[in-house]
Amino acid sequence: MDEATEAPPRARRVQGGSATADVVLSAHAGGNAALFPRILALHVPPGALIADVTYGQGVFWQQVPEGLYRVLPSDLATGTDCRALPYADGSLDALVLDPPYMEGLLRPKSATRGGLGSHAGLRTYYAAGGEGAAPGGGRWHQAVLDLYLAAAAEARRVLRDHGILIVKCQDEVSANRQELTHVQIVTGLAELGFYARDLFVLVRPNRPGVARLLRQVHARKNHSYFLVFQKVPPGQSVARYRTRALILRAPGLATGA
Ligand SMILES: C[S@@+](CC[C@H](N)C(=O)[O-])C[C@H]1O[C@@H](n2cnc3c(N)ncnc32)[C@H](O)[C@@H]1O
Repeated sequence: MDEATEAPPRARRVQGGSATADVVLSAHAGGNAALFPRILALHVPPGALIADVTYGQGVFWQQVPEGLYRVLPSDLATGTDCRALPYADGSLDALVLDPPYMEGLLRPKSATRGGLGSHAGLRTYYAAGGEGAAPGGGRWHQAVLDLYLAAAAEARRVLRDHGILIVKCQDEVSANRQELTHVQIVTGLAELGFYARDLFVLVRPNRPGVARLLRQVHARKNHSYFLVFQKVPPGQSVARYRTRALILRAPGLATGA
């Protein structure tokens, strides 16, 4: 090949990015308050309109810089059931769901509800409190799942297409059955039209104590999950959906509360 016919040299491909170990990891030891802002930073753009529909004591938000997001807090304890939200269809960028994850905390009668005695703090923090506080749904663990699934169906209504749903949960052994709640939620939410975009494991930093151990049958849970879902638009396949950036609309257009 002479000079005139020689092919031009190929442009060298330049790789972007920089080497770093400062990446968000999928497993963390610590508490909700430290991990939650990192999940938001990775999956929800600043300025997003986010409803936290089981706000509780707002622990998730303790380390989130004020004003970074537009937050709509609500909770059954303050009169809003996460299964019937006061927001318009498709009006929210993101939604946070952290209902009671143990069936014992959802029992309708106060006398048989879990979290008595040494677990009183847990009961105050996690259950809605009050007689018949979280009515409806099936028995035992099914009550937990029913609440998650009904709340997710409502989340799907109020989220815009490609909106983000962050779900906190923990597996439980209930009525001598191993219930992998996080798997059940991923499966159930796929049927509702949610793509499982990410999963975080949170490990308790301290060892859980056991008051009366006769014979251990299952591993004692010392971890929980944050699951991050994305709303697949109606008519699109969850199985074929790919992670997609959430582009915010101009402020003011996304409200509907
Ligand atoms: C695990 S706590 C949430 C803690 C919260 N993420 C925080 O950072 O403080 C569970 C909350 O779910 C609320 N809850 C229970 N059933 C509910 C329902 N059907 N709708 C809305 N909130 C509910 C309880 O009142 C309780 O505050």
